[in-house]
Amino acid sequence: MAVSETHGEDSPYFAGWKAYDENPYDELCNPSGVIQMGLAENQVSFDLLEQYLEKHSEEITNNGSGFRENALFQDYHGLQSFRKAMASFMEQIRGGRAKFDPDRVVITAGATAANELLTFILADPADALLVPTPYYPGFDRDLRWRTGVNIVPVRCDSSNNFEITLEALESAYADVEAKNIRVRGILITNPSNPLGATIKKSILEEILQFVTRKNIHLISDEIYSGSAFSSDEFISIAEILEARNYKDSERVHIVYSLSKDLGLPGFRVGTIYSYNDNVVTTARRMSSFTLISSQTQQLLASMLSDRSFTENYIRINRERLKRRYDLIIDGLRKSGIECLKGNAGLFCWMNLSSLLECPTKEHELVLWKLILQELKLNISPGSSCHCSEPGWFRVCFANMSEKTLQIALRRIHDFMERRKSLNCTHS
Ligand SMILES: Cc1ncc(COP(=O)(O)O)c(C=O)c1O
Repeated sequence: MAVSETHGEDSPYFAGWKAYDENPYDELCNPSGVIQMGLAENQVSFDLLEQYLEKHSEEITNNGSGFRENALFQDYHGLQSFRKAMASFMEQIRGGRAKFDPDRVVITAGATAANELLTFILADPADALLVPTPYYPGFDRDLRWRTGVNIVPVRCDSSNNFEITLEALESAYADVEAKNIRVRGILITNPSNPLGATIKKSILEEILQFVTRKNIHLISDEIYSGSAFSSDEFISIAEILEARNYKDSERVHIVYSLSKDLGLPGFRVGTIYSYNDNVVTTARRMSSFTLISSQTQQLLASMLSDRSFTENYIRINRERLKRRYDLIIDGLRKSGIECLKGNAGLFCWMNLSSLLECPTKEHELVLWKLILQELKLNISPGSSCHCSEPGWFRVCFANMSEKTLQIALRRIHDFMERRKSLNCTHS
């Protein structure tokens, strides 16, 4: 297991990070360095978090009995105050359209641990989970590496904006069954990473019917739920269940974390919300391996139960992400590049298929290397997300200042102009 290639660390997704680490862009010290556009990190609302911390620093340090309470034993249920605050934050993000019971909130060290833990619980080694493509490259590690479970891609393509279809689900399911492998569930990401788009209500309903018919589980990774540009454009699977009076809900599990919406990936705060009592009990037992420190829970319990802070934060963060998205889409369009229409997330899904010499994964990687070496931009090739169509790239826009984003757009513009004049000379 330790040396198994299923960890996936050699993929271009991680190789691009190394290239950035060796020569990082800095406005003053290294203006020709690599700009990191391969990291889905949210820094656009950091000032709001810092303001909160500054204003409440005394209250936070003196909360409860302070040091002793944090330093001494924490059981694996986590702090009740934190689970309550997390449940209420998840409700707020969904515009109050879904209810979450704090007793069903299982605490994990990020969504990474939550996804692995659920895979361990729902599947045995050699079983399969269906995952619509393109998907977050980290799933190769999180779902497969230590669990021994297989990921079976459900192929989605640009003919319908990469939407999940019943035909694609049935076809993936039939392929696995033909190999005598057991399918234990489907993992969807809503809003999607890398597409930056939410899943339609009608499709969610279809997926729910599919899992019920096949008697399998549904994991909905909703880590970007608060990063949908408008609350109304995101429908959680929790809302669909509520509307059905929780019928068939015992096969549904939601994953969430504060890494994206609150921009705190370093805090390692995630959760499993399951409607299945046995899964809640087992997940809670297993969460002992990936708990969050009491100090972090305490701080976040204060922050997330401050309604005026959370309401303000959620609204402003959405507005700022939308502004960034508009800026990058507009800039790319001016360079002659189109993206999939998005409405969520920290990235856009850029179509460079017309720049490929041939429509293959190999040529996509040639273009990716060129962009990394010549433009000094680290973006993620679609093939690292198992996209079935070559030429798509994920471009992150929230992990840098607006000024750095403008520089990246300028580099892309100059590159496209150079290509245009080269093509003119050749023709
Ligand atoms: C869809 C998805 N799930 C899970 C994760 C992991 O998040 P965390 O930092 O909470 O472990 C990410 C991070 O990029 C992600 O995009």
